Amino acid sequence: MAPSAGQPLSAVDREIASLLAAYRGHQLFQSVVTLMDSGGKRRRAEMVLAFAAAGEAPLDDAVGAAVVVEMLHAATLVHDDVIDCAGSRRGQTSANARLGNSAAVLGGDLLLALVSARAARIDSARQKQGDEVVGFALKVAQAMQRLVEGEALELQSAFDPGRSVGQYLAAIEGKTATLFALAAVAGLELGGGDAAATRYANGFALAYGKAFQITDDILDVVADPVAIGKPTLNDVREGVFTLPIILTAMKDPATRRVLGGRLVDTDVLREAVRHSRAIEESARYADDLLGRAERFADRLRHGELGAWCYGATGQLRCQLSESIESWRRSQPSSQNDVVRGIV
Ligand code: FPP
Ligand code: MG
Repeated sequence: MAPSAGQPLSAVDREIASLLAAYRGHQLFQSVVTLMDSGGKRRRAEMVLAFAAAGEAPLDDAVGAAVVVEMLHAATLVHDDVIDCAGSRRGQTSANARLGNSAAVLGGDLLLALVSARAARIDSARQKQGDEVVGFALKVAQAMQRLVEGEALELQSAFDPGRSVGQYLAAIEGKTATLFALAAVAGLELGGGDAAATRYANGFALAYGKAFQITDDILDVVADPVAIGKPTLNDVREGVFTLPIILTAMKDPATRRVLGGRLVDTDVLREAVRHSRAIEESARYADDLLGRAERFADRLRHGELGAWCYGATGQLRCQLSESIESWRRSQPSSQNDVVRGIV
């Protein structure tokens, strides 16, 4: 039976819980179990299921691939929190803050081991059943390689006040869009998608994934820390200069000088961002990428999947508008008319 695009994610959650059952109550791994239990938005799992539903993907394969993509996502977050020295994740104390870096790295490694085994099982089950083998485990390994490369690009640019928009876009394509591309392409191929459709799925997911990360990076500047479950302007504190900061620094030499020193006054920086309109400009970048994603979705020529893709881009546009709106509310009133209606 093929899963439908709107299918609940409960089968995915159940399988994740069962893969981790042996580690429940094990003190060293408790944080990663808790992280997986906390769910998150499961956006990547939803993407696998939606693209798998466009073909005739067997339900077990679709759910298995969604499990792999979600657990790989969680592993990258656990390792990312070690790299970023983050204190919280999804509103809870992060694994590294709770148990130290060594245990957190091992927890992320455990997730990676489970991911590799589950991915290989999808390929071997298809081989046994005489279904087309899509080389899912290889795709997962290649995605891991790109994730590492993307994160490495980010590290190389750390504390660089001259980081360019191009460098930023290359890093987020690797560290974030890659996983969405794995989700869409694997989902489609497990359902028998042809080469052209796979290219469009890849194009959709890469553009969507970059817009997703830009939205996250805008939120890092404008959001309420309680609402997003982590402190704001954390990226800057860690030396990660994201699109709103890069655009501000490009226009404002004083900001470049401030970023070049190690102590950044976040109130002064927020004011410079406000003055440069970098939030609105970043939102336009994201909006353009969402338009690009939608053009790829149109080329898929699949009504139900197209509608799902537009639902996903629409949701991100709403999130962007809300961020801009709350940012607008925090502006001095004389600037409101100009900022209104950007997205
Ligand atoms: C969160 O970004 C982190 C990522 C999107 C990817 C991190 C990738 C790695 C650590 C490479 C590891 C690779 C493997 C295969 C384990 P963010 O820091 O912008 O978001 P945040 O604010 O939620 O932390
Ligand atoms: Mg981080």
